[in-house]
Amino acid sequence: MERADKLLAATGRWSRREVKELIRQGRVQADGCSVARPEEKLDPETVCLTVDGGVVDCSPYVYVMLHKPAGLLSATEDRDQPTVLDLLPEELRRRGLFPVGRLDKDTTGLLLLTDDGGLAHRLLSPKKHVDKVYLAEVEGRVDQDDVRALEAGMVLGDGLHCLPAGLEPLGNGSSCLVTLREGKYHQVKRMLAARGKPVILLHRLSMGPLTLDGELKPGKWRFLTRQERTELRGLGTTT
Ligand code: URA
Repeated sequence: MERADKLLAATGRWSRREVKELIRQGRVQADGCSVARPEEKLDPETVCLTVDGGVVDCSPYVYVMLHKPAGLLSATEDRDQPTVLDLLPEELRRRGLFPVGRLDKDTTGLLLLTDDGGLAHRLLSPKKHVDKVYLAEVEGRVDQDDVRALEAGMVLGDGLHCLPAGLEPLGNGSSCLVTLREGKYHQVKRMLAARGKPVILLHRLSMGPLTLDGELKPGKWRFLTRQERTELRGLGTTT
């Protein structure tokens, strides 16, 4: 059992002080009954908590979908440059969210931020076969030779072995979809550069079951929906 104020503050949406005020104003209900005191004990697994009638998810972890814009580092902090954490409000930064995997500074698109280390591991482990799909614009045009080369699994000039990857040319081939099961440093750019088709623009569309919300403009974020969290949990918990 957990205190009502602790459960609500743990969502990152309000500070402990703000939660106490919400409770004092009678705006918080647990299973349809007004929560009278911040220290009231509730079962986080079963309670239906609402604030102003809206259901509040009391999951112990926070999951944020961000449309990463170009120009920010996928890091939690940096001495000199802005990071994706700068796009989040203070309450969320306090929770210690971190990006699940990195996008290059100039790469845009789907970035998941969470404080759930187990989920991050499952999403990033090549053994889990979680596909990451990128939209790339290239110099020149990708063709069927490139498709075969990526599907066979490339060995780059520096000896880096890449797992087989998907490549789908779009239109005249100046853009394409690339599907990776791993996330080595600059991997899409290095694979396509090795094929003589350097990447001009790179944008991540999806990560496993999670697809970038078309309503999210660059730089904007939202919490994952219950449905999205359930799908991510479906990735399993074994190695
Ligand atoms: N591959 C890259 O080259 N860059 C990214 O940001 C992500 C995948």
